[in-house]
Amino acid sequence: MQGQDEYQRTAAIYDFLFSRALREIRLNIRAVLTHCHAQNVIDLCCGTGEQLRMLACDDMLLTGVDTSQAMLAKARKVSPDVIHFLEADAGNLPLPDSGHDGVIISFGLHEKTAPQHEAIFSEACRLLTPDGVIIVADYCTPPEGFTSLLMGRLLIPIIERMAGLNHYHNYRDWMAGDGIDGFMERENPGKLSLIAPHFSGCIKLCVASKVKDAPLLACLKRHQHDKEPSTKKGTTA
Ligand SMILES: C[S@@+](CC[C@H](N)C(=O)[O-])C[C@H]1O[C@@H](n2cnc3c(N)ncnc32)[C@H](O)[C@@H]1O
Repeated sequence: MQGQDEYQRTAAIYDFLFSRALREIRLNIRAVLTHCHAQNVIDLCCGTGEQLRMLACDDMLLTGVDTSQAMLAKARKVSPDVIHFLEADAGNLPLPDSGHDGVIISFGLHEKTAPQHEAIFSEACRLLTPDGVIIVADYCTPPEGFTSLLMGRLLIPIIERMAGLNHYHNYRDWMAGDGIDGFMERENPGKLSLIAPHFSGCIKLCVASKVKDAPLLACLKRHQHDKEPSTKKGTTA
């Protein structure tokens, strides 16, 4: 891709900075996908591919899409060959309709402009099979409470500011639109099957589908007793 790679400097240390903090969210994304028996999963704005690596033992076809050459270089270096990485704009993908039953967008929206959110989500809907799920994890308006406010009004904005001014402005706009709650209310393609809070409610994981009304909450609770990735498919169902 042409243009400046915003992740040029952070690609090498991204997992070191965020792996531990995001592990619970990634485990829950995995729990939803195994519960739904997803077979063909695509991660839009996949970064270093860590989420896909967590799915690599689950017998799924796995594809990661990102525009950052630095993030993709890191992803390819540390991922098994079964994961395919594609350098492309997630808002305009050279992929056929309805080919994926699991689409992940994890922290891939807040740093972009509203037209980009819409383009990426519209591609997610286009790629999705009729009974597939779109899983979105991103920031939301922090609820009342000391820890939530400390995290949501101080810590997260500092991290976002450190990522660059452009990134920060887009994050501010995302939050002004009520974060993931506002976004899913506006864009949800059919049913919102699950909303799970993380980080004292400052981050939410939302699962949307075109038709499905799956009782997904149980699969998240269950993974608490099954923290390590399993090699069997569908163990959380
Ligand atoms: C905050 S990182 C999230 C990475 C990963 N999903 C995660 O959960 O850690 C955002 C990623 O989106 C990528 N990105 C930004 N704009 C994109 C676009 N238009 N299409 C695909 N990827 C994009 C960036 O290169 C970066 O790797």
